[in-house]
Amino acid sequence: MNTIRDRFPFFSHNPHVVYLDSAATTLKADVALQALNEYYTSYSVNIHRGMYPLAQKADLAYHASRKKIAHFLNAQTPDEIVFTKGATEGLNLLASSLGQSLINPERGVLTSVIEHHANFVPWQQIAKKHNAPFQVALINPLTMTVREICDEFEKNITQDTAILALTHISNVTGTVLPIQEIAHRARQINPHIIIVLDMCQSVQHMSIDVQQLDIDFAVFSGHKCFGPTGIGVLYGKKSRLDNLLPYQFGGDMIYEVGLSQSSFAEAPSKFEAGTPPIAQAISLASALEFVQEIISSDCHNNLKDLRAYCVKQFEKLFPNDVVVHQSKHLDSCAIVCFTVNRCHPHDVAHMLGEQNICIRAGHHCAQPLHKHLNIPSSCRVSLSVYNTTDDIDNLMQGITRVITQLS
Ligand code: ALA
Repeated sequence: MNTIRDRFPFFSHNPHVVYLDSAATTLKADVALQALNEYYTSYSVNIHRGMYPLAQKADLAYHASRKKIAHFLNAQTPDEIVFTKGATEGLNLLASSLGQSLINPERGVLTSVIEHHANFVPWQQIAKKHNAPFQVALINPLTMTVREICDEFEKNITQDTAILALTHISNVTGTVLPIQEIAHRARQINPHIIIVLDMCQSVQHMSIDVQQLDIDFAVFSGHKCFGPTGIGVLYGKKSRLDNLLPYQFGGDMIYEVGLSQSSFAEAPSKFEAGTPPIAQAISLASALEFVQEIISSDCHNNLKDLRAYCVKQFEKLFPNDVVVHQSKHLDSCAIVCFTVNRCHPHDVAHMLGEQNICIRAGHHCAQPLHKHLNIPSSCRVSLSVYNTTDDIDNLMQGITRVITQLS
């Protein structure tokens, strides 16, 4: 019988690897690899330039991908989808362009202490550049209730908060933030606030409806949802993208170029200077069709059960040696963050690595969160649809060896 693992060629090359690092990057789905290979082997020509049939084929495939991704996110139109090279580029684009037009010494940015550095440092730096207020909501993803989290954001929002940038799911603890409630309360206080959502850890796990979430902008990376590296998506409400300044200049993003002045194309083209990641965009659309397939299947519930099994096994087998850091009140998605008493997380990950078990250890690009929680660093297991209870059992055996040798 074919299983979901058969959809991932990685496992035929690495049959003994226990891959538990999908929050860093997921493995690549067969359909995404096929789309990539098909473009590179059979019609690898540039778009928006050639008048020949192959160029039209590439054009059509690129634009069909934009359309499929718009549909996946329930965006109003494909013009709301900008291709970037990753979520980090999308956030830097937003910080730079929104920063230039919206923030100043009176009007600033609010973000949260749980953000990945990619949704923290660009805002911090742009606020510094424009001498604007930079505020950080001190939410605790382990102890706070939905209400307390909303209150903490609300406490920091005023008429002068120009931008609210926050994550959907913590890449460290897996805590799912109540985005709709936060957005609703933010807009009650300040109807003009611009809300930016980092969806890097959510896109591969849940149906996303950007209209229902009521956000202005969102970003994610293709490589974290079974697709290729080198591609990301920036979603923006059409009216917001129309008002946003271009971030990079060059071919394909212009309307007319003169010796002293240039005018620019409409969104999304004005944000896609140069040859875009054509193969990656086409492949990403196939990856997201795969995500849609798994979201509507049982795989998704299985993943919830698998996460619960992992936590249960930690608690049952290592009650005195392992501390699981998870939310007491909110849902956690696919991630189990833990520390092993008396063992440095790097040593734990290294020793598991020697046993072919891949996890991540360190601060996970979230130093402010680790400082806030008073944990210098942590270990992170991040699950995806290809993981099984055997993977968790192997992990537990691995941890037993680590504890025996290190503590
Ligand atoms: N942002 C990725 C992670 O959390 C790399 O591991």
